Amino acid sequence: MRVDQENVQILFVTSEIFPFSKTGGLGDVMGVLPVVLKDQGAKVAVITPFYGRLHTADFQIRLVLENCPVGYPWPEVTADIYMADYHGLPVYFVDRPEFFDRKNYYCTYHGEFFDNCERYIFFSRAAVALARKLGIPPYIMHAHDWHSSLVPAYVHAARRLDPFWHQTKTVLTIHNLAFQGQYSARLFWSSGLPAEAWDMDGAEHYGSFNMLKTGIGYAQRITTVSPTYAREIVTPEFGCGLHGILAKRQPDLRGILNGVDYSFWDPKHDKFLMYPYSPENMQGKAECKKTLLYLMGFHPRFMSRPVLGFIGRLREQKGIDIVLEIVDELMAMDVGLIILGEGDLGIETMLGNLVEQYPGQLAACIGYTEEKSHQIMAGTDIFLMPSRYEPCGLTQLYSLRYGTLPVASQVGGLLDTVIGYPAQGCTGFTFSPITGPALLRALQQAVAVWKDDGQWRRMQERAMHQDFSWQRSAREYMSVYREIGLPAEAG
Ligand code: ADP
Ligand code: GLC
Repeated sequence: MRVDQENVQILFVTSEIFPFSKTGGLGDVMGVLPVVLKDQGAKVAVITPFYGRLHTADFQIRLVLENCPVGYPWPEVTADIYMADYHGLPVYFVDRPEFFDRKNYYCTYHGEFFDNCERYIFFSRAAVALARKLGIPPYIMHAHDWHSSLVPAYVHAARRLDPFWHQTKTVLTIHNLAFQGQYSARLFWSSGLPAEAWDMDGAEHYGSFNMLKTGIGYAQRITTVSPTYAREIVTPEFGCGLHGILAKRQPDLRGILNGVDYSFWDPKHDKFLMYPYSPENMQGKAECKKTLLYLMGFHPRFMSRPVLGFIGRLREQKGIDIVLEIVDELMAMDVGLIILGEGDLGIETMLGNLVEQYPGQLAACIGYTEEKSHQIMAGTDIFLMPSRYEPCGLTQLYSLRYGTLPVASQVGGLLDTVIGYPAQGCTGFTFSPITGPALLRALQQAVAVWKDDGQWRRMQERAMHQDFSWQRSAREYMSVYREIGLPAEAG
């Protein structure tokens, strides 16, 4: 099978793409950015793994290529390639059951899969091999996070051997610097990268093989998902050990804020809500709250008390432990609390105990449910986002649109998106330092404003009118692509 070269200018390589696969914000971003780029006139395709738990129900996924060899150093290893049409965008799925047909994507409660390094070496090699096989020399190959961050290095190596790759430039987007894919040096030698890539400006990091660093070293441009995070990651405090190489690459580093898919995240037409609402008519929000509180077994008095929501990975990054630190004070303030998340087993157990301790006032949904996340977003009053670091954060952007005012720490993308009370044009509440007492003070402030109906309504209206749609960010990506060779007439 050949795909006309004209048809692909930008090839995304990603480990998640919603609605096929998702564990967090990366999936959300990949489910919309390529589509918006396509709508702006670019020709885009996506390559992603064929996971066992891939959501395929609404799509006609078909096998398009069998036994595609992934090449050196695994000449005998092949991948089957499936394809789906997603909003007019070709999405290619790399299938190799022993790597991807598992219940989880990356890990279990016992830790990450022992073979993650091989899994994503394989995926990145397969992506490059697939592009070659399909006869698509794209102008841009755009990798995301550590899972595909070897792609820039593979393309760099291939460029010197094969004229097919001469025009292809690479971009790496860092969605979360804390996850780097760092493994023993031994695994570098099975990656098939040339020996010269074992360098302190490439794959080597204090004697280990660092997959994210490899991409940082070889990509023509590096982007991350908010301007503030782009400034933070060149510092030792936020650089997760890679601030040195990031500082070196700073001239090629850009922060481009994520956007929101308002066709999916808007209470006016959210398919998961029984009662739609908008800034002009907020009755539906009260109905959503009533339904949610009923379903969660809340005491009816909470209809006239503020209810706080938390949706996210139960991990240190998200500051869930800070919420738990002040939970008794919160309960004493007679506010309700609903938490949706999964992650740390210790935190999940603690939440189970708290539910028993505070029946009718605190609810915890352990697990991953898209539907519930929308219902909690709509049915609560205040959204908790006390992250220790936050590259961009999408949930606070969703909460703004749902009139569920965020209480957010002053870091990363949260600083770029939430205007803290009482500043001019405020849309939420912000706090620093990132500690229990500071979060509690911000929440006390939020509850005080919540009691003033008029003031709360005005803030909600402002928040709901904020526009974080993808169009502007997609144009910024286009200008990055153009800097490195995407012709002006494309897109
Ligand atoms: P991150 O990518 O760091 O986890 P983001 O705020 O960028 O954070 O994106 C998180 C995405 O994952 C949002 O779409 C959020 O609704 C979703 N999400 C997180 N945890 C859950 C969960 N337990 N159930 C459903 N959706 C969840
Ligand atoms: C990461 C970050 C989050 C960001 C998301 C999408 O998971 O933790 O802040 O919004 O990627 O870019």
